[in-house]
Amino acid sequence: MSYYPREVIDDIRSGNDIVDVVGQYVKLKRSGSSYVGLCPFHNEKTPSFHVHSDGQYYHCFGCGVGGDVIGFMMQYGNYSYLDALRFLADRINYVLPEAEMTADIIKKRELKQNLYEIHKVAARFYYEQLISPNGKNATEYLDSRQVKLGARRKFGLGYSPIAKGALYEVLKSRGFSEDSILKSGLVYKKDDGNYFDKFFNRLMFPIIDVYGNIIGFGGRILGEGQPKYLNSPETEIFNKSRNLYNLNNAKAAKMREFILVEGYMDAIAIYQAGFYNVVASLGTAFNENHAKVLKSYADSVILLFDSDEAGVKAVLRAIPVLENAGLKIKVLQVHDAKDPDEFIKKFGALEFGELLKSAKNHIIFQAEQIQKKYNLDSLDDKIAFSKDIASLLSSVESSIETDAYLKEVSRMTQIDLPAIQNEISKLNNGVKTVRMATSNSKINKNSIDEARGGLISILVSNRVYYDLISPNIKPEEFVDDFYIKTVKYIYSLYSENKPVSKESIISFFDTVEEQSRITKLFVKQAGYIDNEMEKALNHLLRKVKEAYYDKMISDDYSNPKLPELMELKRNVSKLYISLSDG
Ligand code: GTP
Ligand code: MN
Repeated sequence: MSYYPREVIDDIRSGNDIVDVVGQYVKLKRSGSSYVGLCPFHNEKTPSFHVHSDGQYYHCFGCGVGGDVIGFMMQYGNYSYLDALRFLADRINYVLPEAEMTADIIKKRELKQNLYEIHKVAARFYYEQLISPNGKNATEYLDSRQVKLGARRKFGLGYSPIAKGALYEVLKSRGFSEDSILKSGLVYKKDDGNYFDKFFNRLMFPIIDVYGNIIGFGGRILGEGQPKYLNSPETEIFNKSRNLYNLNNAKAAKMREFILVEGYMDAIAIYQAGFYNVVASLGTAFNENHAKVLKSYADSVILLFDSDEAGVKAVLRAIPVLENAGLKIKVLQVHDAKDPDEFIKKFGALEFGELLKSAKNHIIFQAEQIQKKYNLDSLDDKIAFSKDIASLLSSVESSIETDAYLKEVSRMTQIDLPAIQNEISKLNNGVKTVRMATSNSKINKNSIDEARGGLISILVSNRVYYDLISPNIKPEEFVDDFYIKTVKYIYSLYSENKPVSKESIISFFDTVEEQSRITKLFVKQAGYIDNEMEKALNHLLRKVKEAYYDKMISDDYSNPKLPELMELKRNVSKLYISLSDG
């Protein structure tokens, strides 16, 4: 990711003191160990923009941006990483060595721009085909699915015609290069040299990112047949695990709750019924990245999947993913219909609104699913069921909530409350005391993400913690790509006996987004008082490890190693690092 050697970058950074550089653009006032001013990146009347001379980083408590001096220039000057670096090199008359990668970067940026253009042209073409005589069947199909004119326009629906290279011809006539056309994924070239459109004779659903760019398409067959949907391949601009269908509209609805569905048609039907805050995953399993994207626009999510077995499985998989991102989760199942689209058609928008209100807490939903595995008339099954429920409820932090769920489960199953409570206390034996001890402190309420961040902060703060923590947790156990990358880097610095500091970690990243993320984390975790450290460290370590096993477990419920994983997860609660031994 660096285009210049690390030493060059470090030279340029150390030659450009962040207080000097920022001070050229922002009026700064000394305040204790740092400098404050009005944030240049958002509108504010009271200063919340801090620049730290000792750590050489900036951070705004108002809008959350942060980073090193290079990151500041990237954001302030709207520069790329390289341009910011060049600018700062210039500022101190530092002569940069020739960078060979630069041309590549420029090329990549141009390619992306071309791909956005190509998708725009393609969407326009498909739309015109839909309203032309060629689109008669597709239009009739939309009529039969009751997609109204307004929704067709809002979603930019189109039709890819039967002529197999029709889009290719259009793109070529618009002057796009063969390279860009092929990299769009919308056209491919056969060995015989002929060009074919990826989509033909399909109803086209443009996929739009939060910035309003068309980045790909889903194409549905008209009527029955296989494959029912074709989706654009992953390209330079299309990443299925970071984008959701209708996210652009859902975001604009400015509601802090989203409805998450499986299908394009479900999303459109729900939107049409007047619920704009709906998103659909793009034919891929819902993952951590999706959850993170949702978390930036919503606080809670209603999972509304198909009512079949696959739908239930998908819900069970999505729950821990959403939970780990710190989202509240409700689960909804449609009745007397296979999916939300069919439900709305049968019962109407009003009834759908009522249905939304009946969304269940996810714990209750999970308990119901566990119950289905057992025959509660049998004593053995009753015991096994109670154990499963105990394990489910042991993840609930609040005891008030636990009690409420227990009552509900006991009502559902007619199993005595004390019997289930007994199982829970067996399971929690030993864990309970620790839980109680930390339950009132703030660290306990943090999301998994914050736990990961907290652990990273501790790692960076002192080599002692690295020596204690690193044998107990692998970078992969941080699950999230960003944290894995960070932890790998920290481990590598320590193991090579290189200096580790907030500064060195922030500067490892070369995007404003990543720099802001890591800076925010360091600012938030200002440090623990000595006697809290041991408790905090162990709590965070366990939380992060448990989330890892949760993910492994929920990724594949049919995994033969499931019992082993459950055992490993249980063992996490026995893990304890004592600082006085260190
Ligand atoms: P309708 O049958 O038109 O109501 O479609 P739907 O949008 O309700 O889709 P469905 O519930 O059958 O599937 C959910 C989602 O999975 C779809 O929206 C697609 O994103 C994806 N999907 C379904 N079938 C296929 C397929 O054959 N191939 C691929 N790649 N994705 C599919
Ligand atoms: Mn459907």
